[in-house]
Amino acid sequence: MQLETRNLKLTLLPGDGIGPEVMTEVKKVIGFLEDKSSLSFDLHEDDIGGAAYDRYGQPLADQTLDTCRASDAIIIGAVGGSKWDGVDYNLRPEAGLLRLRKELDLFANLRPAIVFDALVDASTLKPEIVKGLDILIVRELTGGVYFGEPRGIEDLGNGEKRGVNTQVYTSSEIQRIGRVAFDLAKKRGNHVTSCEKANVMESGKLWREEITMLHGKDFADVKLDHMYADNCAMQLLRNPSQFDVIVTDNLFGDILSDEAAMLTGSLGMLPSASLGAPGVPGLYEPVHGSAPDIAGQGKANPLATILSFAMALRYSLNEGAAADMIESAVQDVLNAGIRTADIMAEGCTEVSTSAMGDALIAQMDKTLQKAA
Ligand code: IPM
Ligand code: MG
Repeated sequence: MQLETRNLKLTLLPGDGIGPEVMTEVKKVIGFLEDKSSLSFDLHEDDIGGAAYDRYGQPLADQTLDTCRASDAIIIGAVGGSKWDGVDYNLRPEAGLLRLRKELDLFANLRPAIVFDALVDASTLKPEIVKGLDILIVRELTGGVYFGEPRGIEDLGNGEKRGVNTQVYTSSEIQRIGRVAFDLAKKRGNHVTSCEKANVMESGKLWREEITMLHGKDFADVKLDHMYADNCAMQLLRNPSQFDVIVTDNLFGDILSDEAAMLTGSLGMLPSASLGAPGVPGLYEPVHGSAPDIAGQGKANPLATILSFAMALRYSLNEGAAADMIESAVQDVLNAGIRTADIMAEGCTEVSTSAMGDALIAQMDKTLQKAA
């Protein structure tokens, strides 16, 4: 592998639960690349989520945000856990992640759901339904009901309270996420399915109008379908291979991406990228959560976070060759039957979090030696 020397600034935020364990494996991969290629990294590690709350009294400290802004890419492990159930709602672990997305205006969340051939039996769906599946969910990440105002819980004074959130989208917010989806579709199956609830919500009606307009104006050569989000949830189970790129809002995207992820058999396999305007660092994180129930036991699957790092190499650091190498080593390791508990199958070898990282490194080393 011939790669020129660049000092890539990475901020690592391991977070809570299994976050630190899976991040340790990412650091091994980074160390390997530093050893074996001419890539060099300038690493900053800090806290987010509950860990940041414990250390700084906030789930994302200002100084951490500054470090993130100054980097080329940010890798997150996971946030959250019942340990912080009692903290002020505005200071809960998830608020740190939401603040980071919002402050950097990372409006485009790419969540690929790919079924690896070796894992086709790990899905709860029949192998013939999920084999070869390759869906990309493009989720709007900085608008909608997650951030809409007014919001809050008000006391109506008569023993009754009222919880309010607002679903809101503007034309430009819809168009910029639509543009990302159409551009990505052109590099894949050339098909976009746009999901909303235009039959119930005005924001959905506007969503459909704007996507239709954008399509007619700039992307008429891409196939476009509109689908109600509830139907999309059903179609994902009935016939997932009809989809190529799904573009949808923040809340529907949250739900549909968990569903799509599970089609693949394990949340422990799926990376994501959150991207903003050119020049803004991208944020990369596994789709899975902090899984406090298995934290600290060496059971977590580090592949989703390692694959998130691979996405960072590709999208933010322009190091596609290194990303390819990691991704194909993941395939090879799975083909060799090496599995963490979440994807364990008959006849395979169950390994710990750190043994999975080691197996991946050994595989990359082998590949490099062959190529030399
Ligand atoms: C996700 C998560 C987050 C979200 C939580 C942790 C705030 O579920 O990234 O999908 O709802 O966006
Ligand atoms: Mg989610």
